[in-house]
Amino acid sequence: MAPRKVRVGILLSGRGSNMTALVEASRDPACPYEVVLVASDKPAAPGLAWAMDQGIATWSLSPKGIGKPAYEAALQTALRDAQVETIALAGYMRLISDTFVAAWRGGILNIHPSLLPKYKGLDTHARAIAAGDPVGGCSVHIVTEELDGGEVLGQSEVAIVPGDTAETLAARVLEAEHRLYPRILAEFVAR
Ligand code: GRF
Repeated sequence: MAPRKVRVGILLSGRGSNMTALVEASRDPACPYEVVLVASDKPAAPGLAWAMDQGIATWSLSPKGIGKPAYEAALQTALRDAQVETIALAGYMRLISDTFVAAWRGGILNIHPSLLPKYKGLDTHARAIAAGDPVGGCSVHIVTEELDGGEVLGQSEVAIVPGDTAETLAARVLEAEHRLYPRILAEFVAR
């Protein structure tokens, strides 16, 4: 009998290229996780449409007008209904409340486009270039109440080359993200 796979829910707000990488990796029979729900705060997110096309269960709700507590309560219900065990944030552009983090203590992962603890927050690539750093990169970390502050589970370095702009560096880091996230998520659920 095939071993049981850990049920992962992915939250996104945009194009969803990391979600795609996680889903594609999950199709390997040896992958220890399966993606059972893709959820979004942006009903028009391109990533949601891709997941729907793949036959993956999706959920979306805009928090606009209903407020964060009601939005997060509905999201919790969707995640519990889908029997999600681990959450992977993949370009989810909304701050998660402390209550939500506490409910999933240690069970939410995120990918961030910098070598944490450097450059938490936004504009990571521009800040790395402006600082004259020789390398940028990405990190997968556990989500805690502190923004981009939880335990780092894995990182990839990407060289910054002369002439790099935030856009050219972001494109190379994104390729590294697509390799790193599936590997670290698989290690995390299997541990
Ligand atoms: C990625 O750069 C990720 O590191 C950051 O948001 C971006 C999401 O891109 N958290 P995508 O939606 O996965 O293509």
